Amino acid sequence: MEKRDHLLQKIWLWSLAFFLLAAVTGLLYRWGLIGGDSFGLRLSNIRHAHSHLMFFNWVTPVPMAFIARSLLKSSPEAYKALFRPIYAVILIGFASYPFFLLYGYHPVQVGSANLPFSVMLSGLVMIAWYWFMVVYLRYRKSTDDSLSSLFYDGALVMLFVSSLGAWGVAVIQFGNIDSNLLSGAMTHFFLTVFTEGWCVLAAIGIFYELTDKQTSLPFDKNWLIAPIVLGVPLMFPFGLSTDLLTDQLLWIARAGSFLVSIGLIMNLFFMIRLNPSVMKWVWSLILILFGVKIGLQIGAAVLPSRIWLGEHGLRVLYLHLLLLGFVSSLYYAGIHTLHFRLPKIGLYLFLGSVLFLIVTLVFISGLWPIQWQPENVYLWVTVGALLPSIAIAAELGVVGYFKFK
Ligand code: HEM
Repeated sequence: MEKRDHLLQKIWLWSLAFFLLAAVTGLLYRWGLIGGDSFGLRLSNIRHAHSHLMFFNWVTPVPMAFIARSLLKSSPEAYKALFRPIYAVILIGFASYPFFLLYGYHPVQVGSANLPFSVMLSGLVMIAWYWFMVVYLRYRKSTDDSLSSLFYDGALVMLFVSSLGAWGVAVIQFGNIDSNLLSGAMTHFFLTVFTEGWCVLAAIGIFYELTDKQTSLPFDKNWLIAPIVLGVPLMFPFGLSTDLLTDQLLWIARAGSFLVSIGLIMNLFFMIRLNPSVMKWVWSLILILFGVKIGLQIGAAVLPSRIWLGEHGLRVLYLHLLLLGFVSSLYYAGIHTLHFRLPKIGLYLFLGSVLFLIVTLVFISGLWPIQWQPENVYLWVTVGALLPSIAIAAELGVVGYFKFK
């Protein structure tokens, strides 16, 4: 087996295990909401533990492993140099999990000192990101100038830019700066650039890496990425609460979203043309989910804000459509395309569970008419939160048992 495949497989196995833990944590939140036992933990802390583990140990190491795999094609000697920072991200991310679960962002008393361990470990995770970026820059020169490399470059730039927002939050907290607007802006700058920039560009890069047969474009390939990179940092005001959002900020976010939508639509058309020949319907489903995500994004850019602003359920639906529906399913499809002989039961269960979860989130999105809601809607939402854990456990079993043979 090639060494570069070995790296991806190892990281995939570890990340799947943490994906399962993060999914079970999300399920615990839903269980607690419908009155189930949450073991004395605060629901807000459970949600923090869920979202941070998803970010640190799922949507960061997996694309990094795909990126490392592409670098190892031309620089096999970089194996250890690339492996170490990815492992560091996973290790530190996992170390932060109990602190988020027990204390959220609050400091922990150790002797006479109050130490915000979750914030400190989040800072360390970002330093491990920088470590990966430095290694990437060192070996990037020897790779080709393919479309996927361009998107990997852009994704890592976005990861760096997003981290500036996270440092900003820390500075505001430790500097005792009393501004809700500034702290909200920094938080949502990080969240938006991380999800819409890093996660989306890396996912598109993986798609191009697996499908691009050096197709020629009728225009410069930079046009596929430039509107996204320019627009994403402008979109953060969409996340601000209604009391902080001014008309100017809203227009900036609309303009950013419009720009990003143009870039994504161009990519979607191109991706439809490239649609891989193996597992055609799986890839088509992923492109449909991508199209729905773009549709919602265009909606936010052009529809009156009273329809969607401040709808927490809609935000949760959008985030999961993007990060679970499009991004996570794409990782699964990528792994199963590269290892085509691996049994597909885990993949199919996962896709089914994701679609079910997304449908249940539509019911509580705030846009669905109450009179059309099914009976016991929160019970269905909880079942929706349970199914992905079963599917991920099945994939873990398949991958562990068959060892990618
Ligand atoms: C695997 C299946 C998943 C389940 C069962 C799940 C479940 C949940 C639940 C129950 C919440 C709280 C919703 C609320 O506040 O009403 C939540 C929030 C969240 N989840 Fe997930 N989730 C899953 C996958 C993911 C993935 C893959 C990501 C990112 C990579 C993610 C990121 C988030 C974030 C960032 C929030 C906080 C949203 C907010 O409050 O603004 N989740 N999830």
